[in-house]
Amino acid sequence: MPDFQKNIDSILEEVKNSSAIGTVASYIPELATVSSAKFGIHLIDANQQTYAAGDANEAFSVQSISKVLTLSMALGILGEEIWKRVDVEPSGDPFNHLSLLEQENGIPRNPFINAGAIVISDILVTQLKNPKEDFLNYVRKLADDSTISYNESVAISEKETGFKNYAAANLLKSYGNLNNKVEDVLDFYFHQCSLSMSCKQLCDTFYLYMNRGKCKRNTSYLTINQIKRINALMLTCGFYDEAGEFAFEVGLPGKSGVGGGIVALLPNKFCITTWSPGLNKKGNSARGMQALERLTTMTELSIF
Ligand code: DON
Repeated sequence: MPDFQKNIDSILEEVKNSSAIGTVASYIPELATVSSAKFGIHLIDANQQTYAAGDANEAFSVQSISKVLTLSMALGILGEEIWKRVDVEPSGDPFNHLSLLEQENGIPRNPFINAGAIVISDILVTQLKNPKEDFLNYVRKLADDSTISYNESVAISEKETGFKNYAAANLLKSYGNLNNKVEDVLDFYFHQCSLSMSCKQLCDTFYLYMNRGKCKRNTSYLTINQIKRINALMLTCGFYDEAGEFAFEVGLPGKSGVGGGIVALLPNKFCITTWSPGLNKKGNSARGMQALERLTTMTELSIF
């Protein structure tokens, strides 16, 4: 195995001096309060050895990264049934686009575009007794960390400005692909996106996608087949209209969020999280993408 700590330290130096720092998301006003100078990186390998640099222990808004976790919970409860309501094809569109949803009669292209994630939220609102509490407990268990929480200010901020998500949920409802009230589903969705986690906590949580469905405590949450499906979706849809570029530059399944986080993994080898709040034009962390490209190039470790 390569010297991960050495690699990470040199990547931190490189990206600190990068001029392409990106722009912090402001369409959710609360996210704009975060400094674009932040940069964290954390890696956990298959033996649970960890390597970190920069702001790796500072919590940030995970946003769309949470969509992998809600998908996992829904898949664990309902199994293959969920694919009747959401497809598994890349969209090539930005995360909040609605045009395909109309063309395809209310079946979202995949569970990571906003419309698809809202369908998954609807499934959990139906299936869970106390949706917000039960989902939070699920994440805490995966990470083995009871300190993980929602950030209410971020959830409220998105509730007040999430007009496109209201449009998506109403469209889904009009096509009969939303069973609960728009307000209830979006309240859950805005909360899942507001989860506040550090690079370390995200690596601990995503460990099971690298470890054939078993979390750090060796408890099995998903089957090997379900892990195959989720990792395939991260590779093909995790970066929306930049999924091709991420596969091309980095070569790992992963998921981004507009809070500036990216989680990526190499099955059976390692899971890595970067955090840098400045986003590129496609809504993915600019320096996070650079850092991950450097890591897989330096170590010559990718799925390809
Ligand atoms: O629904 C939204 O717009 C946000 N809560 C999440 C978007 C997001 O993170 C897209 N990923 N890069």
